[in-house]
Amino acid sequence: MENLIKRTAAIIKGYPPVVALTGSGISAESGIATFRGKGGIWSTYNPEEYATIDAFMQNPARVWKMLKELAHITMEAQPNPAHTALAELEAMGHLSAVITQNIDSLHQRAGSKQVIELHGNNRWLICLKCSKRHRVSQSLIEEIPPLCQCGGILRPEVVFFHESLPHDAYQQAVEKSQQCGCMLVIGSSVQIFPASLMPILARQHDAIIIEINPEESHLTSEVSDIFIEGKAGDILPRIVEEIKRLSP
Ligand code: APR
Repeated sequence: MENLIKRTAAIIKGYPPVVALTGSGISAESGIATFRGKGGIWSTYNPEEYATIDAFMQNPARVWKMLKELAHITMEAQPNPAHTALAELEAMGHLSAVITQNIDSLHQRAGSKQVIELHGNNRWLICLKCSKRHRVSQSLIEEIPPLCQCGGILRPEVVFFHESLPHDAYQQAVEKSQQCGCMLVIGSSVQIFPASLMPILARQHDAIIIEINPEESHLTSEVSDIFIEGKAGDILPRIVEEIKRLSP
C-alpha cells in the first residue's frame, strides 16, 4: 500500500494536468449513502419510481419524499478528509478539476474551486412554471412538493434518469478527460453513462488512470493502471502528505 501511495504521488507530480472523477463513495464517510449495493439509496427507493424525469412529472410529491430526505442529509453533512485532500491538491497546483457525479456540493464546501457537476446539484430548485431559481432551505422544502410564489412546482437542479446532462458541464468534462495526464477515479462504480465514458476517453489519450475504492469496478482490470484498495478518506490525505514530502 505504501508503495502504491508513493507511486501515485510521483505520477500526480509528473503527469499534469491531473483531474479527479468522483462518485458517491467519496461522500460515504460524510454519512451520505452510496447508490448501489447493500444499504444503497436504490435499495430503498426504486429508481424507476423515484429517479426518472417521468416519475417526477407524474408524481412530484412522491419523488420529493426521497429528495427531501436526501436534501436534509446533505445539508447536515460535512466534507470529509477526502474532499479536503482534493481541495488541497488543487490549491497546491496539482489538480486541475474535479468532475463529480455527486449533487451534494461537498467538494465546493471543502474548498475545491474547479468543480464540474455532471449530474447537477441539490442546492438550487427551479420552478417548472416560471423558471425562477430558489436556494434550497429547510423551510422551503417543509411542505412537499415545494411551490414557487407563482404556484408552480419546484424541481431540484439535479439530472434525473432519462434527462440530458448540462451541456457545458458535459463539454468541460470531455475536454478535461481528453487533456489530462492522469485521472483519479474515486468512489464510483463507474456504471452510469456518460460519466463512465470519462476514464475511457482519458485512457484513449494516454492518461494514467488511478482508481481509489474499497472495491474493484469494471475499470479495475481493463482500464486502471493503479488500483488502491481503500477508503478515499484514508488514502487521499496520505497521497497529499507524500506529495508534500517530495516537494517541501
Ligand atoms: N471511499 C471510496 N469509495 C467508496 C467508499 C469510500 N469510503 N465507500 C464506498 N465506495 C465505493 C463503492 O465501492 C462503489 O464502487 O463507491 C462506489 C459507489 O458506487 P455507486 O453506488 O454505484 O455510486 P456512483 O458510482 O456515484 O453512481 C453514479 O449513479 O444512480 C446514479 O446519479 C446517480 O450519480 C449517481 C450515479
